[in-house]
Amino acid sequence: MQTKRWNMQKEQPNHQAIQEAAELLKNGETVAFPTETVYGLGANAADSRAVSKIFKAKGRPEDNPLIAHVATKEQLSKLVSILPDIAKTLLDTFTPGPLTVVLPSNGVCASNVTAGLSTIGVRIPEHPVAQELLKTCELPIAAPSANISGKPSPTTADHVWADLQGKIAGLVDGGPTGVGVESTVVDCSQDIPVVLRPGGITKEQLEEAVGTVMVDPALANTSDNPKSPGMKYTHYAPEVPMWLVAGMPKNIQVIIDRERDSQKRIGVMASTETADQLQADRIIPLGSDLREIASRLYDALRIFKNGDVDLILCETFPQTDIGLAVMNRLEKAATAYVDH
Ligand code: TXA
Ligand code: MG
Repeated sequence: MQTKRWNMQKEQPNHQAIQEAAELLKNGETVAFPTETVYGLGANAADSRAVSKIFKAKGRPEDNPLIAHVATKEQLSKLVSILPDIAKTLLDTFTPGPLTVVLPSNGVCASNVTAGLSTIGVRIPEHPVAQELLKTCELPIAAPSANISGKPSPTTADHVWADLQGKIAGLVDGGPTGVGVESTVVDCSQDIPVVLRPGGITKEQLEEAVGTVMVDPALANTSDNPKSPGMKYTHYAPEVPMWLVAGMPKNIQVIIDRERDSQKRIGVMASTETADQLQADRIIPLGSDLREIASRLYDALRIFKNGDVDLILCETFPQTDIGLAVMNRLEKAATAYVDH
């Protein structure tokens, strides 16, 4: 399949190109597009055949549900059977934006969107290109991150192209995304909201809006016991093994030197401040604050190639604010956790 690619600026969506992309979506095809978090791979959420093309292109397991994207709250309310007050407050406060709410589905979306669950994840992205595409096609669009399953999510159109060119009908290039990690997924189908995936909207922000918010115990367990992320984590994986390293820059340097002594070429990902104090074969400074680090994370994970370095060492970050999402992704991407 030839993948059609359209280029535009984030702030100046090209109406003609978006019309063409919307036509492809209406015809049951897959189109990748930018959101403020990561690029998504979209298809008509009400058409199970179109949705199945997403799973095929990504190589995604069919038991992993997709998020349905819409342009407005009014459209969103047409996909769910109940819209509780807490969900309304969250939507009013944080959307359009990097938040996904999980609510009871009313069955309008195809059952392969929800992987057979009774609930559906719904989201209103803020990105002007995503907004215009959703308004133009007038459909709910199922869209996971537009990467091959298991690889880091795409934050540029070139990442999408590298993974999916020839496997999808279209790619709308709207430049680099912004937030860099995916939306926060909050289950609002129970009385107390539960964060299922940390992301662009922090737990602190959610609590300020609606009071008590729980975090899925499965996430807490991972953070409590990150020493052996183990084989089950194959998400966000770079091409070469990655170790998370806790501690001061001089401790990190000790590990770099030890591994280089055994003939390994070492790549490093760290905050700019730490990176400035280290010596290795390739160093990627991620930025000086957690928001900047989040926005560069996935690009950095894709930079290290086989044959270029043998091992990546990545600094650990505080699990506050968007750092919770950053560490959640890093723990899934890493093969080991070392602190000395
Ligand atoms: O920022 C984002 O959320 C991006 C952009 C493209 O919108 N999308 C994204 O989709 O990250 P994906 O498919 O890569 O991740 C969706 C996450 C998965 O962890 C999935 O298990 C969860 O949301 N999810 C979706 N529907 C759910 C549901 N009904 N119940 C529980 N979890 C759900
Ligand atoms: Mg994904």
